Amino acid sequence: MSVFSNSSFMGHEQVVFCHDHETGLKAIIAIHDTTLGPALGGCRFWNYASDEEALHDVLRLSRGMTYKAAATGLNLGGGKAVIIGDPSKLKSEDFFRAFGRFVDNLGGRYITAEDVNMTVEDIGYIAEETSHVTGIAGGSGDPSPITALGVFVGIKAAVKYKLDKDNLSGIKVAVQGIGHVGNYLCQYLAEEGADLFVYDIEQSRIDEVVKKYGATAVTANEIHSANVDVYAPCALGATLNDQTIPEIKAPIVAGAANNQLQDEAVHGNLLKDRGILYAPDYVINAGGLINVYHEIKGYNAIKARKQTEEIYTTLIKIFNEAERENISTHLASARMAEKRIAETTAQRGSVSGGKVTLDRIRMSV
Ligand SMILES: NC(=O)c1ccc[n+]([C@@H]2O[C@H](COP(=O)([O-])OP(=O)(O)OC[C@H]3O[C@@H](n4cnc5c(N)ncnc54)[C@H](O)[C@@H]3O)[C@@H](O)[C@H]2O)c1
Repeated sequence: MSVFSNSSFMGHEQVVFCHDHETGLKAIIAIHDTTLGPALGGCRFWNYASDEEALHDVLRLSRGMTYKAAATGLNLGGGKAVIIGDPSKLKSEDFFRAFGRFVDNLGGRYITAEDVNMTVEDIGYIAEETSHVTGIAGGSGDPSPITALGVFVGIKAAVKYKLDKDNLSGIKVAVQGIGHVGNYLCQYLAEEGADLFVYDIEQSRIDEVVKKYGATAVTANEIHSANVDVYAPCALGATLNDQTIPEIKAPIVAGAANNQLQDEAVHGNLLKDRGILYAPDYVINAGGLINVYHEIKGYNAIKARKQTEEIYTTLIKIFNEAERENISTHLASARMAEKRIAETTAQRGSVSGGKVTLDRIRMSV
């Protein structure tokens, strides 16, 4: 398996392969960039088809975390972990404690958190071995409501920019995926008088928002091509691709899902060419990361909420920059993130090393 030449390697500082004989733990921790601070990113537990697939996934996800933190203005770097195997068979206290020791060995360069197939209980076992962990019971809690708040203010920013409307009354929004984030988002949107169009693979989730908010149910094929003002992907990644983009009728795409663009450069440009305003996913969905950042600092819900609401201003800045430079909004946000990292590097006179430590974040309350 190639690592340095892996297509997703792109500038990673450190990749740690973890194996614990006793429990069978196999994990990969990827630290992409610690210029702005310790690398924070969740741990995903997934039954990957191969080690290559796991490596590709962790590298892609950790790089994404660098951009998310940098564009959001947080003093955090980007990292992520994957545990390889079947969660229904492998989970145990010893298993997660073994993972916790690997995290602890990194001395705070990587801070772990919950991701797919991980629970607060699993995180609790990891916390028995390391303090470099967030999302523990009694901490900042479920990030979904605050992620939804960020997406809601992001939709407002896009509607203001593209349609010159200050509120969402009468604005039609198609929400794809009514899970943790999608459900809270529907609530915010309905409270401001938006008209909802919804689809989920789980019928009960559709029924709930139809009943609660008078949403209109549409089919799997209609959700991205509905005749609406905003298409909000809140389920899976890669929903913006060669097939869907030509069918999108909404002038705005703004939703919570990670990795919405199947190919960042190609599909970012395709949206631009079609005149569709795209709110970059890692900017609009940063509320959850902002929340755990505040957990490290000593949790203050009001401050976390206030910083999440700043996603509005960040997006307006990105939309303006993209228009001025005639580039995609995806590229404008990437440049903004890279500029912040480059400026920090220049000020410091060195390239890597995570000079903003966990302790310094904690002290900056
Ligand atoms: N939870 C957070 O705080 C957070 C933060 C940042 C980004 N995100 C991203 O937002 C998205 C949603 O996260 P979540 O926590 O609500 O997840 P979730 O698992 O609670 O919800 C996802 C929903 O999408 C539905 N779904 C799956 N496949 C679908 C399909 N093909 N079409 C329509 N619906 C489908 C599922 O049934 C489920 O209801 C994910 O991409 C996640 O990575 C979440």
